[in-house]
Amino acid sequence: MGKVTIIGSGLMGSGIAQVTAVAGDEVTLVDTDPAALARAEDAIASSLERFTAKEKISAEDAAAARSRISTSESMDAAAGSDIVVEAVFERLDVKQEVFRKLSEIVSPDTILATNTSAIPITEIAAAATHPERVVGTHFFSPVPMMKLCELVRGHKTSDEVLAKAKDYVERIGKTCVVVNRDIAGFATTRLICALVNEAARLVEAGVISAEDVDTACKLGFGHAMGPLATADLTGIDVLVHATENIYEDTPEAQFYPPSLMRRLQASGDYGRKTKHGFYDYE
Ligand code: NAI
Repeated sequence: MGKVTIIGSGLMGSGIAQVTAVAGDEVTLVDTDPAALARAEDAIASSLERFTAKEKISAEDAAAARSRISTSESMDAAAGSDIVVEAVFERLDVKQEVFRKLSEIVSPDTILATNTSAIPITEIAAAATHPERVVGTHFFSPVPMMKLCELVRGHKTSDEVLAKAKDYVERIGKTCVVVNRDIAGFATTRLICALVNEAARLVEAGVISAEDVDTACKLGFGHAMGPLATADLTGIDVLVHATENIYEDTPEAQFYPPSLMRRLQASGDYGRKTKHGFYDYE
């Protein structure tokens, strides 16, 4: 198995580190914030304990996975990696700086993957030398539980790099869907925005209640959760921002943020995290 470095040890980075180590790779988790590294180690330990309690992994395998993870505050630790997965803050300038530095540290054939959920892969790749080795690996939260990874091809991503990234993602137990063009919102964010926006418009027009929209999607289409309950969980602020970005790139009516969602956002009713959204959670 290979050497994998994860840059950014927050919610996503720690999850990616965990599943990669469980699969047998040596993992280096890098974060500029030592407190974030300590939190990540705790989060990984308690997640593995939960998997052990449910007998999804033996105590020996969990301990072996933990021993395969080392931490560092310096990106120099990425030297010699087969693949680097970046999961730092969702800001283009921060990500570009990471890719610029990484280009000086790793060899030209190291795959550079980004976990961005919305920034074009091509813009991040522009900061790296050999941008053909940059690819999007969009994992879903919580990473140890969610099976999907959206693999996104940047404008210059080579077929070989896409295939190698797919091998890595499948080796760590995820299923890939391949997005062949670097389009705003990739595929999954476009799909959820289109569905949530239409659901919100139907509710706003008095056609159907929020509860019934969600029931229709659950019982009619077999969705595990209705779109408006999903919006409350994800954050209405997050989804309005996402759909605005997509609309800017692709000005189609379905992506124009519905006025009900803009009003909820303006009122600070973001969903579960503020206790009010499409539903009340008091
Ligand atoms: P987070 O805020 O939990 O973690 C980011 C970590 O990056 C922090 O620990 C921070 O100290 C570290 N960091 C920032 N700049 C750094 C640098 N220059 N070098 C090293 N470490 C640095 O963020 P989260 O939620 O884990 O998201 C990470 C990425 O994953 C973002 O691009 C986000 O859009 C994407 N994503 C997030 C999902 C989610 O549900 N939270 C889902 C899918 C993708």
